[in-house]
Amino acid sequence: MIATIAFASCNQQQKESTTAMSITQKEWGEVDGKKVYLYTLTNKDGDEVTISNYGGTITSWTSPDKNGNKSSIIIGFDSLGTYLQHPPYFGALVGRYGNRIAKAQFKLGDSVYHLAANNGVNSLHGGLKGFDKVVWDATIADSTQPSLTLKYVSKDGEEGYPGNLDVTVVYTLSDDDGLKIDYTATTDKPTPVNLTNHSYFNLTGSVSNTILDHKLQIDADNYTPVDTTLIPTGEIKAVKGTPFDFTTAKKIGQDIGAVPGGYDHNFVLNKKDTSLQKVATLSDSASGRQLEVYTTEPGLQFYTGNFLDGQFTNHDGNPLNVHTALCMETQHFPDSPNQPSFPSTILQPGQTYHTVTEYKLSVSK
Ligand code: GLA
Repeated sequence: MIATIAFASCNQQQKESTTAMSITQKEWGEVDGKKVYLYTLTNKDGDEVTISNYGGTITSWTSPDKNGNKSSIIIGFDSLGTYLQHPPYFGALVGRYGNRIAKAQFKLGDSVYHLAANNGVNSLHGGLKGFDKVVWDATIADSTQPSLTLKYVSKDGEEGYPGNLDVTVVYTLSDDDGLKIDYTATTDKPTPVNLTNHSYFNLTGSVSNTILDHKLQIDADNYTPVDTTLIPTGEIKAVKGTPFDFTTAKKIGQDIGAVPGGYDHNFVLNKKDTSLQKVATLSDSASGRQLEVYTTEPGLQFYTGNFLDGQFTNHDGNPLNVHTALCMETQHFPDSPNQPSFPSTILQPGQTYHTVTEYKLSVSK
């Protein structure tokens, strides 16, 4: 079944020269007895973002390159069956706590909470069945821009976390090719919350190319060094004079050889408040595409697909090998519940967690 909603706000002239803004809904399968759908958001330029209510997963973002050839800048798979084999968080909403919590435990008040150790001795991305593996309730929001609202209630004790957590995520595709992700959550007990999206990008549109020739600039003078299990040591270290210096744009491949395995680090963004600010710019001269990252968050996990091993195959039919895609996960710092010097991730009853991240795409000849 396919449903289409086209927005009446497009005037006739726009309709003739461009694609009408729309959302389509297509049945995609069933998980845990719940129906899974694919929603395709189309803006007036004809950019298309497809999202599933399974894991809130972005499965593709199709846009033209500088020659007008359309391809997806987000890595994904055509069948729900592939996602059920749990490829590592492709395009998914990650929670209740994105990134790692050391030794899979944290103390809050007088209690110690135990989580699943699903990444060596640590907990990663919400545990065994995080928000990326559940079916969200979806509604098409009443808006002049195509937008999808996803809701999920994470029960008290789910994956070891305290409190019923009521989560809402709204994806909106703007006419200027911005994909906005708006996260809110409330709780009935104090709990750590750190929500993010785990899209893997390759601006060339094909994973037959690595991302090593992409240029990246990150507005971060510092990063959080990690131990061998990727848990921050607690130090906030200057990037100057290290391979982590992306303060001016450079090719990702330039210094990656000096970082064992590749980049998988949290950058401490220079922004000083929680306003929405531009924090990173990724570009690829071959396709002419550029992606800017705006966020309200204090950190950015830059991950160069170090663990991709060819097991999964992208939309374009090519295997996902090491460094064929990268993630820019906006977030609070890893292991914050155990690191008192990091900005707090504890949400209290009566408070509302609210963060916004926007990825803005453009193309130049
Ligand atoms: C995050 C982590 C990486 C890796 C990926 C998923 O980006 O920081 O270490 O676990 O998720 O494979």
